[in-house]
Amino acid sequence: MSAARAGLALAPESLERLERALAEALASGDESALAVLGYGEISCVVAWPQSQAEDAPRLACKRLPDFESAASLDGYARCFADYLARLEAGGVTPVASHLQRLARPGGAVAGWCVQPLLPAGSLLPDLLRARAPDGADALIDELVARVHGLVGPRVGLDGQLSNWAQVDGALRYLDVTTPMLRDAQGREQLDTELFLASLPWALRGLVRRLMLGAILDKYYEPRGVLLDLLGNLYKERLDHLLPVWLPRVNATLERAIKPEEVRAYYREDARMWALLQRLRRADRWWQRRVRRRVYPFLLPRTIAR
Ligand SMILES: Nc1ncnc2c1ncn2[C@@H]1O[C@H](COP(=O)(O)OP(=O)(O)O)[C@@H](O)[C@H]1O
Ligand SMILES: [Mg+2]
Repeated sequence: MSAARAGLALAPESLERLERALAEALASGDESALAVLGYGEISCVVAWPQSQAEDAPRLACKRLPDFESAASLDGYARCFADYLARLEAGGVTPVASHLQRLARPGGAVAGWCVQPLLPAGSLLPDLLRARAPDGADALIDELVARVHGLVGPRVGLDGQLSNWAQVDGALRYLDVTTPMLRDAQGREQLDTELFLASLPWALRGLVRRLMLGAILDKYYEPRGVLLDLLGNLYKERLDHLLPVWLPRVNATLERAIKPEEVRAYYREDARMWALLQRLRRADRWWQRRVRRRVYPFLLPRTIAR
């Protein structure tokens, strides 16, 4: 079914309006006019339509970093389509996702990923908060099975709870804008400069050299994805599930994960993201106050950890 028929495509004038609203929010630092659903590391997610006065919101629109040319967005689009197909083939059904583009002044191109807005309460963090711990057994077993079914040296997954929803009883994966695919030589298929675009300029070289491969490696191993998922329980304040989930995860692993490993992993992960977030804030200040430029990303206000 085409995206337009599935009701997934935004009319060009609607996309223009959304783009303008985002540009205004970034220029003024006032995001109150945007219905922000989530702040990502590389994308920000807003609901469409923007106000209840028009119609109930029905789409979730993810703004990707700017692409310098149509050709570079074409490259991304191929990777994006490949990833959706690989997820599906590997038993991880992605939320229906459609890539749209918009010309920007100076030859740059904006990319938007459009998905149906998932119903309130269907995202796993919300769902699990509303459910008794023993009701979560079947869910973790299914998550673990999906991770093992898909993840390997060529296909990665960011299995954090906030990337999954349960819709009509079926698991859906929503975080598709960072396609994690590697070729036979282990090279990232996505242009990794996209990951780096959100980082302060002074840090990019360092992250590129020292960290990128290592940061991403864990997403290409079931044990790494599952450790990350368990650590994520702390961030989501769902760590009461850990005693129930850990043995079920370990039953599927050759090398069991210890509770201390989960805690240590989480502490390290939280420290790294908090540091990056502080640096991004400092960079935003520098760009706005000293360089007099518009900072092109929305940053979360505070992260509860
Ligand atoms: N289709 C959707 N419906 C409702 N909320 C969504 C949808 N897609 C994303 N979100 C919200 O935005 C957050 C960030 O989106 P995600 O695609 O995971 O991007 P990121 O790469 O930034 O993690 C999600 O965790 C979720 O809370
Ligand atoms: Mg996510």
